[in-house]
Amino acid sequence: MTITPTIQAVGWNGDECVLVDQTKLPGQEVLISCRKVQTLIDAIQALSVRGAPALGVAGAYGTAVAAREVLDTRPKDPWHFFDSLCEKLAEARPTAVNLRWGVERARKKVEALRPDFSLRVFETLLTEAKEIHSEDHKWNEQMAKHGAALFNGGAAMTVCNTGDLCTGGIGTAFGVLREAFFQKRIDHVYALETRPLLQGLRLTAWELARNNIDYTIICDNMAASVMRDKRISGIVVGADRIVANGDFANKIGTYMLAVLAKHHRIPFYVAAPSSTFDPSLSTGKEIPIEERKPEEILSVLGTNRPEAPFRVFNPAFDVTPHELVTGIICEKGTLLSPNAENVSRFLGEKGVLQ
Ligand code: MRU
Repeated sequence: MTITPTIQAVGWNGDECVLVDQTKLPGQEVLISCRKVQTLIDAIQALSVRGAPALGVAGAYGTAVAAREVLDTRPKDPWHFFDSLCEKLAEARPTAVNLRWGVERARKKVEALRPDFSLRVFETLLTEAKEIHSEDHKWNEQMAKHGAALFNGGAAMTVCNTGDLCTGGIGTAFGVLREAFFQKRIDHVYALETRPLLQGLRLTAWELARNNIDYTIICDNMAASVMRDKRISGIVVGADRIVANGDFANKIGTYMLAVLAKHHRIPFYVAAPSSTFDPSLSTGKEIPIEERKPEEILSVLGTNRPEAPFRVFNPAFDVTPHELVTGIICEKGTLLSPNAENVSRFLGEKGVLQ
């Protein structure tokens, strides 16, 4: 059975890629229409569209936006212009591998159409983007099923936002939690607020409420005591990039949860589709970690902010070593105790990037 997401974070309408502006949620539901690649890049960098799988889908639609732009502006060297737009798009955010994956997978489909740049290029890219979108939706449902089976009572914990806002479907970690709740395998979700941009408080709480799931938001620094005191039977998080040995990057604070889970002997799962694997990197040390502006941290001070120069470190993601991971939940199934050997077997001969 196909589960309909409560909102579509990214999609296509007429000649435009359409996004829900997540910076305005939960207060307002505002759409952004992208007719130019730069509009999409700005939206990605502002986190209007965000979350690894949604970035993959947006990247694929973005190639169709790029083709439309080429057809509209008729540059001297259309393929050169198209390639440079795609490259800029793929580089808009560095950590989630899905963005480049979506761009490259769509782009490959039009390689054979060179040297002419006709409407067919646009149509082929759009068809592939729609395919990637519906594939992600299907993968979400498969992950939800595999992941829910890992729970058997108690409450779960998660960080950041991993639901329909971040994917082409019902979510990665969120889909697992949703399914586990509906199957009565968990009875409550503790969601970290996720400083500095509050994806947990603003977006996950909104998604949990829309799905009628019992939940409590906690500040990030409450995670240890909640793990000890509140019957937490498992933790599920998303991922922005999983490398060859099973190390993975996800929202800053994820590594802290993995360390705490080990101390409290709580299973720690990562839910991510195959588009999040990057077997070209051997260990998590090689993952590029995006650093964002100090203002994102300092803005909580509002107008009370003194003149003093603040030194701020604002990495958007951290890397969790595979030794701390109980299992990776993927559309193919769950890989327990990931390491270089079994990740490579799990991905199969072709690896994953298509
Ligand atoms: O900076 P963001 O909001 O894009 O970070 C998102 C996350 O870290 C998610 O946990 C991750 O992309 C997995 S999404 C299903």
